[in-house]
Order: sequence, then structure tokens, then C-alpha cells
Amino acid sequence: MGEMMVAKHAIWPRVNDPIFNISERAQNATKSLGKENVINATIGALMDDDGNLITLDTVFNEYKSLPNAEIAAYAGIAGQPEYLEAVKKACFKEFMPEAHIRAVASPGGSGSIKLAVYNYTNEGDEILTSDWYWSPYVSIAEETNRDIVTYQLFDENNDFNFTSFKEKFLYLANKQERIFTILNTPAHNPTGYSVGDDDWDKIINLSKEVAVNPEKKVILFVDVAYIDFAKDDEGSRRFFKKFSNLPENIFVIVGFSMSKGFTAYGMRMGAAIGISSSEDVAEQFFYSCVHSCRANWSNCNRGPMTLLSNIVNDPEKFKAYTEEKDKYKNLLSVRAEAFVKESEKCGLDILPYRDGFFVSIPCEDPKALSEELTKDNVYTVPLKAGLRFAVCAVSESKCSAAPSIIKNAMEYIKSQKVEA
Ligand SMILES: Cc1ncc(COP(=O)(O)O)c(C=O)c1O
Repeated sequence: MGEMMVAKHAIWPRVNDPIFNISERAQNATKSLGKENVINATIGALMDDDGNLITLDTVFNEYKSLPNAEIAAYAGIAGQPEYLEAVKKACFKEFMPEAHIRAVASPGGSGSIKLAVYNYTNEGDEILTSDWYWSPYVSIAEETNRDIVTYQLFDENNDFNFTSFKEKFLYLANKQERIFTILNTPAHNPTGYSVGDDDWDKIINLSKEVAVNPEKKVILFVDVAYIDFAKDDEGSRRFFKKFSNLPENIFVIVGFSMSKGFTAYGMRMGAAIGISSSEDVAEQFFYSCVHSCRANWSNCNRGPMTLLSNIVNDPEKFKAYTEEKDKYKNLLSVRAEAFVKESEKCGLDILPYRDGFFVSIPCEDPKALSEELTKDNVYTVPLKAGLRFAVCAVSESKCSAAPSIIKNAMEYIKSQKVEA
């Protein structure tokens, strides 16, 4: 190999994103065989039954009504002040924690993760998340020399595995000053799981136990990228209230995204929302993040900020937006229910689905199963310990058909192994 021109810290394995690879194959199959003959469950966006991206009219009509200058002008480094207020309302609704809350605009939820990870961990730190996780967490962590360590999300009854969570949380508390945990809930990617209120209580109580030691800093990063597609709008937000009046050395950061809730994937808008009982801690958050914004992307996309503020601050517009979104939320729910019901019927084991875009199927050799399924023109994303099936992108009838196809492919692989 020739001399490396890139700096040592910037050398990574030359891999293409596996999701995009399989997604491309699914698209090619759809083109050559016709969409009725292919199940493309690789896409992480809400698609209609014909495979077209769903876009909310209430969002795009508002966007297109903005004066050019409102889209073209720079925004404030921290985000437009109206946006920073509106985003709190959109995120918490009536469950705003009683705390000092500061928001900073970010390019998507991804940007908020970057802001939080960089500013709240030290180089060499380990960051805790569940064993089923969205893989960019690793990219974001390793980019600045942090590692991801995982707990088991589910116990043998498919409930939240608090024992495993506690074990890993305490392991980090013993070895580091900072215990930074990423919780992607509600509507977890890739499993569709949502942490229940009782488990939230346990997580917060454990955080408080660790925080008795004033040297320790507990940071809970709550990735709510899919919150607007959780079935129970109120129930899925109730946990926010638990972030009221926490000890000063427990800091909560909520990662908000417009990508799914506003079907604004490519507009790249989100926010990091810091929550603390201490005004000073909240101010520190704001100014550290503003520095990072300046250093990484300067300011964010102004048009989507204005469109969110305009919708959230106008009750009529907000009602129309919510009604339109809820129509699609129901569509998603019907598809997921079809998948879950058929899985039960044919005996396909899936992880406990509650809400959101994806269902996961645990299996032994995900790559082999995903490959086997392509022979039936079913395209899924192979993960470390299973397959991800995007109910968000597949019609109800295909969601009903898929579980038995998957079950059969699993049985076939098993029978081949036995023969060999
Ligand atoms: C778990 C999770 N978190 C955060 C995001 C953030 O997405 P974006 O940066 O598009 O807002 C996504 C998007 O797919 C996601 O799946």
C-alpha cells in the first residue's frame, strides 16, 4: 500500500454502508421484477404502499410559503430563538420537565448525538447503549476516540433487562468519572421497543445512587428520533416529567429530530435539549454546544427551523399537521400489527415491538438469512444478532406475507446445516 495521505486517526476500514448496499439491490430487483413482486424492507423512512416517500403536505406547504430570504439567510449559530422555544414545545408537549432547559439546533438528531458525545465524554471513555443499537452511535463515538459498550436490552422474558443495564452502568461508574448512556426510546431503532415508565424509574433511581458521589457525572442521552410515531402520544412522553429536579450531577440531553416527525429527512434539522436542575449546568451546556456548532457546521438550515416554529406556534396549523401525521401513524401501526400477528401465527420469534419504524428478528446468522431471503425477493437489513424489517416501508399485505417467508427461510438454513 502507498503512503497514507490521511492522518492516522482518520484511517477506517474501507467499507460501504451495508444498509445502502442491500437497499440498492432491493431497488434494482424492484425495477426488474416489478414492485408487486419485491418486499423492500430496508428503507428507514415512511413509504406509501406504492413505495413512494411519504411527505406531509402541512409541512411542505408551510415550507414553500416562506419568503426566499427566510430560507436563504444564515441562522444563528445556536439556532433561531423562536425555533429553540418551539422545539421544546414540539418535543415535550405537556410533559416539560421542571428544570432549566436550553436547546441548541443541530443538523438532524445525528448532530445532537455528536454534540452530546463530544462535549460530555472524555477521550478514551466508554459510552453505554443497548446491544441492539443504531450503528452510527459507534461512528460518532469512534470518530473522537470514544468506545461503545453495551448491555443486553432484553431479558429471557423479553422485558427490559435492568439487571444487565445496572451491571454495565456500575462498571462504567467504577472506572470513569462520566457515565454517559444513550437510550433510544420510544420506538427504538431497530427493535421498535419503548422503555416503560417503571423501567425509567429504575434507571433514574440507579443514576441517583451513583450521583450520590459528587465526583461522578451521569449523563442520560435520550434519542427520541421516532417519538412522533409512537402510538400513544401522551403515554410516550410522560417519562420527560421524571427529569424534573434531579441532582445537579445528573444531566439529561434529549436528541430531537425533524427527520421522521416532520418527514424532513434531508432537511437536516434537529436539536440537542439539555435539562438540569442547575441553571449554571444548563448554561454550560449551551455555550459548549455553541462552540461545537461553530467548529463543525457553523449554523443550521434556517428554513426548516422557521417552518417548525410557524407550525408549532399556530394552533390551527399544529392541529392540521398533527391530524395529517396521525393518519400515517395509523398506517404504520396497521402494518406493524399485521407483521406481529402473522409472526405469532407462524411461530416466528421477533423482539417485543411497541412502536416505530422497525421490527427485529433475532437469528443466528443474519447475513446468511438476509441473503437467503433475497431469493424470495425479500430484502431486509442484517444486523449483528438478527434482521431488521422496516414496517415503515412495506404495505400491510406484504407485512402479513413476510413473517412466514422469513420463518421458512430460517428453517431451510437450519435444515442445510443439519445435512452438512
Ligand atoms: C436511532 C436514530 N437516532 C437518530 C437518528 C437521527 O436521524 P437524523 O440525523 O436524520 O435526524 C436516526 C435516523 O435514522 C435514528 O434511527
